[in-house]
Amino acid sequence: MAFVSSGYNPEKPMENRITDIGPRKYDEFYPPVIAKNKGKWLYHEYLQPGVLVHVAESGDEVYTVRCGGARLMSTGLIREICEIADKHCGGHVRWTTRNNVEFMVDDKSKVQPLLDDLAGRKFAGGSFKFPVGGTGAGVSNIVHTQGWIHCHTPATDASGPVKAVMDEVFADFQNHRMPAHVRVSLACCLNMCGAVHCSDIAILGYHRKPPMLDHEYLDKMCEIPLAIASCPTAAIKPAKVEIGGQKLNSVAVNNDRCMYCGNCYTMCPSMPLADTEGDGIVIMAGGKVSNRITAPKFSKVVVAFIPNEAPRWPTTAKTIKNMIEVYAADARKYERFGEWAERIGWERFFDKCKLDFSHHLIDDFRDPAYYTWRQTTQFKF
Ligand code: HEM
Ligand code: HEM
Ligand code: SF4
Ligand code: SF4
Repeated sequence: MAFVSSGYNPEKPMENRITDIGPRKYDEFYPPVIAKNKGKWLYHEYLQPGVLVHVAESGDEVYTVRCGGARLMSTGLIREICEIADKHCGGHVRWTTRNNVEFMVDDKSKVQPLLDDLAGRKFAGGSFKFPVGGTGAGVSNIVHTQGWIHCHTPATDASGPVKAVMDEVFADFQNHRMPAHVRVSLACCLNMCGAVHCSDIAILGYHRKPPMLDHEYLDKMCEIPLAIASCPTAAIKPAKVEIGGQKLNSVAVNNDRCMYCGNCYTMCPSMPLADTEGDGIVIMAGGKVSNRITAPKFSKVVVAFIPNEAPRWPTTAKTIKNMIEVYAADARKYERFGEWAERIGWERFFDKCKLDFSHHLIDDFRDPAYYTWRQTTQFKF
């Protein structure tokens, strides 16, 4: 497309420059019923999966309909969300912390027409555009990352596996049959952007091969001490190499100490490590962030490796589906995934979920690893 100026003058980049204005203030966008009753809510109820009502001291009610969102959305889809908000909600809409979309109406009679409208909207391929659900003791949206759409350090994709897993557990997005809510998250590398370290079930991109060294460019592209200091196991040391008769500064990686975290590549573009067969997925389980009953927990590694199986990641999706089914059948009411696993004992968790226990799952990282071993005779055969 031919260039169209916004009025910015590249000759005088600082002229008419607006800066440090921050985000628009949240209350500019409140629906009237929210603005009026803010801070004065009495109670709330789930009317059905995906539909909540909040009742205020004034007697005012606000009905909320929560819909699944793919997170990665076109402006076309956002415009369609705005159309729905214009038609049913006086132009108001909000997004949740798990990237679902919530439409709010101030009268019960407006709920069913909104639900009917949402249910009728599908993509040409057949997927629901706005599936209603994500509340209560079910499986809500999957918090996820960039994957092969946009990041340069992933070991797996984000949007692809998330679609595959949500298709597998879709019924549980739309009902409340779980003992407690099940939070699933994905990160495409162990930077863990998002919530994988604190989720009931987590999907994590994982490498299995050490970085390659682009000696020719390494000293030109990288600040070598930074690459050395980026390594959690001190696998990297400075090295002199000879390329085409030329002596160059570079690094050497001790492959016996490398556990393929990819941190050095984040710091140094000459240490790439992504690999089609080597890369894949680790599954973690048992994390939570709330303080309800038990303190927050980190998720623990329970599956050491599943290959990347684009485009539908069937092994990953089936493994997660199975873990959720076993949890749903065995856990007590209100018990989160990690509380259940800790009550029955992780050895029982592995038995019940029919997951292999391999040496990879035993912590071997520094002094704290010792605290993850069993220093008691308490265990079940
Ligand atoms: C005053 C009485 C006792 C004293 C002073 C005593 C002292 C000790 C000490 C110093 C150790 C070695 C701890 C270590 O590994 O650092 C030990 C280990 C052990 N004691 Fe005793 N003990 C006493 C009574 C008993 C009794 C009555 C039993 C059994 C009925 C018992 C069973 C054991 C066992 C099985 C171990 C080995 C634990 C392991 O493998 O680490 N002890 N005891
Ligand atoms: C209720 C009965 C018993 C209890 C509560 C008991 C408890 C223990 C405990 C706590 C240990 C330390 C395990 C560890 O390293 O973490 C131990 C080790 C040991 N027990 Fe027992 N024990 C019992 C019966 C017996 C009997 C009847 C025998 C022999 C006939 C026995 C022989 C041993 C031996 C040889 C070890 C050391 C194993 C090793 O470290 O290589 N224990 N026992
Ligand atoms: S988790 Fe890793 S690969 Fe994924 S977006 Fe974050 S930094 Fe990039
Ligand atoms: S991948 Fe991680 S462990 Fe391996 S050399 Fe780089 S920083 Fe160190």
